[in-house]
Amino acid sequence: MADLMEAVTSLAKRRGIAFPSSEIYGGLRSSWDYGPLGVEIRRNIRQAWWRSMVQLRDEVVGLDAAIIMSARVWEASGHVASFSDPLVECEDCHRRFREDHVPGWGTASGHDTEGTVDAASGEVKCPECGGKLSEPRRFNLMFKTHMGPVEDEGSIVYLRPETAQGMFVDFKAIQQTNRLRVPFGIAQIGKSFRNEITPSNFIFRTREFEQMEMEFFVEPGTDDEWFEYWVNQRLQWFVDLGVHKEKLRLRPHEPDELAHYAKAATDIEYEFPFGWSELEGIANRTDFDLKQHQEFSGEDLSYYDQENDRRYIPFVVEPSLGVDRAMLVFLLDAYRVEEAPTASGGTEKRTLLALHRDLAPIKVAVLPLSRNEALVPEARGVLDRLKNRWMTTFDDAGSIGRRYRRQDEAGTPFCVTIDFETLNDRQITVRDRDSMAQDRLPIDNLVGYLEERLR
Ligand code: GAP
Repeated sequence: MADLMEAVTSLAKRRGIAFPSSEIYGGLRSSWDYGPLGVEIRRNIRQAWWRSMVQLRDEVVGLDAAIIMSARVWEASGHVASFSDPLVECEDCHRRFREDHVPGWGTASGHDTEGTVDAASGEVKCPECGGKLSEPRRFNLMFKTHMGPVEDEGSIVYLRPETAQGMFVDFKAIQQTNRLRVPFGIAQIGKSFRNEITPSNFIFRTREFEQMEMEFFVEPGTDDEWFEYWVNQRLQWFVDLGVHKEKLRLRPHEPDELAHYAKAATDIEYEFPFGWSELEGIANRTDFDLKQHQEFSGEDLSYYDQENDRRYIPFVVEPSLGVDRAMLVFLLDAYRVEEAPTASGGTEKRTLLALHRDLAPIKVAVLPLSRNEALVPEARGVLDRLKNRWMTTFDDAGSIGRRYRRQDEAGTPFCVTIDFETLNDRQITVRDRDSMAQDRLPIDNLVGYLEERLR
């Protein structure tokens, strides 16, 4: 299983999907850049999320709030006081770890786990050198900076550690300007930043990442029902986008692991190569955030329920997912290596990304059989018919078999081949990525054929 992580990381790097940031300077741990194919996959993930959470719903609207907000926002939300992780440092090699990420943490004393727990004392040791670890101290995860030219206490601002607070702070303005009635939601996609102690596993945990969050404001007393509803909706979203059902599971949080604002929370977990871990979190945030902002800002953030002539502070149910983490799951889940027949009658390995068509970065590749002076313009003509509708690519370099393999690796659902017969019969061949089946059809039918299959 660990090999799968390596294989996907290496494919991502080889094909320019994602690679270490600032690489010519030796890279910056935990920062990743997304190349052309990665950019398209991410656009498609955001688009699929927005479609399901906003476009198809009457009661959810969008927001694009500033990343840098008033520092008071983070005092009110509780992040300044309590958004922290326990940091331990090795007294010998001085490496730092998040305490609950050290192998063996939380196991019974005297129990040796991967050699990091001292059998005699039961103490967890440094996973790098076996040295003694310090007592944990709390480390705030927010990136702090200063706004304006003077660097003093009064100019401190934070890079947002979640997009959610934008929705709470703008709740009243959005509700009133759009005349929204509870229950309704505000959705946002944008970058968040956390100074994670142990970023790890490729794009799973990074310090700069993108979140897709929706705050759903409901009448108190209906929150448990809505919580169930959103957990099921969100789980189904992954299944609809082709993620293997048996690799997904729901894990309700124990009371002692709930965030300071939550009454209940359930993680949608995925079976990553490094074990089951959080993919998305759904939380019942109660009226905590709105009440806090009401108190700190002095603004009335209650909602007036006209029908029942009463005022209340709505409860909030929040589904929250990272674009990067979703992307990692879609890549891991779609990665396959298969035996494929060759032209000479043998077989060879082919690597493919069997991504859902909505997520595939390029939908159609147009391939003239050879770099022939009659075929290339014909193929360019076909490309022109398609590029208006879908992300396409043109490739005339190398053998057709190798070009199919390149597209398989990029997850391209369809390849259209223009050969010498095309010049006579005005027909092209469409090859399907997953089945490798080929259909021959008139050029004039191509757009309709692809429309049916690409939605
Ligand atoms: N507003 C609630 C919130 O931020 P969270 O569980 O801390 O809750 C929600 O984060 C989601 O954001 C996670 O399930 C994950 O998909 C993504 N996420 C959180 N921290 C991340 C990190 N350091 N790197 C990548 N994705 C992250």
